[in-house]
Amino acid sequence: MNSNWWLKLQERVWGLSPWDVEKISDEWFRAHFEYAADVVYHWVGSVLDVHTSRFLNFGCGDGITDLSLVLRYGATDIHGVDIRREYAKLPRIAKEQLGMRRVPSALTFETITPGAPLAGKRPLVDGIMSWSTFEHVQCDQLAPIFADLYACLRPGGYFFIQIEPLFYSPFGSHLRRYDDVPWHHLLASEESLWKVIQEHVGPMDASEVDFGFADFGVDGYKKFVFNEYRALNRLTADELVALTVEAGFHVVRQERRHVDIEIPPGLRGRYPDELLLNNEVFLLLGK
Ligand SMILES: C[S@@+](CC[C@H](N)C(=O)[O-])C[C@H]1O[C@@H](n2cnc3c(N)ncnc32)[C@H](O)[C@@H]1O
Repeated sequence: MNSNWWLKLQERVWGLSPWDVEKISDEWFRAHFEYAADVVYHWVGSVLDVHTSRFLNFGCGDGITDLSLVLRYGATDIHGVDIRREYAKLPRIAKEQLGMRRVPSALTFETITPGAPLAGKRPLVDGIMSWSTFEHVQCDQLAPIFADLYACLRPGGYFFIQIEPLFYSPFGSHLRRYDDVPWHHLLASEESLWKVIQEHVGPMDASEVDFGFADFGVDGYKKFVFNEYRALNRLTADELVALTVEAGFHVVRQERRHVDIEIPPGLRGRYPDELLLNNEVFLLLGK
């Protein structure tokens, strides 16, 4: 998508399609176009020149964050890969939310088979980013994927990973849009969690409802989100660091965020407090 010469030629002649942030009406879009892109830029832009760097976004989703990195921060080359094709919606989303006529040619996307190696298929990249993705990767694929991403990165390049919410944190189930009880997934059975979701009526936090909702419908989205919960790999921040170091990366910088919520008596002592309270990790790795 978008890598074609015609699009590049159009951009050379007319420049990027105009865009207008005043048109943004969707909170999921805003959360990615503004917050996620700002954070990625804060970390990646501190070590790489985004104007001249070639990037790979692992688990790019709908590509909104990548679009923002191009429009707001001047990125010129981002290749997004994902096992789903949500990025195919980006031209429509960009039109609706920004009034853009065409998505910038700086963005290219690819659907991949889970765990299939990427190294050797394209030139080495200067930077890799991954936002809210590694908690969804199948457990046995984590080590091979980190080794593969290490091989995709040029020596001296950087890899930025963010995960939120981490599994053992209060809303680590990723079910908060339906269930506001902290640590419910560690306290209740799967059946009772599913019942809470099934019985949920009314609006959800708009910033948590992605563009897939319209495809699934109310009940289909409940099933999708619950299956996503069941497939979470339960990775902890320490395990993430250990796996990436094992793959050859070194830690340049990391930040772990914690929640200030009282651990319920039924949970206290069952898991280390650190695990229960650490809800987010930002990890900047080097090669
Ligand atoms: C919560 S979404 C985040 C998407 C995007 N980064 C964002 O911020 O909107 C997690 C993404 O990881 C993708 N994913 C899960 N396993 C993957 C794998 N093995 N390889 C590539 N992408 C994967 C999913 O398809 C999904 O798009």
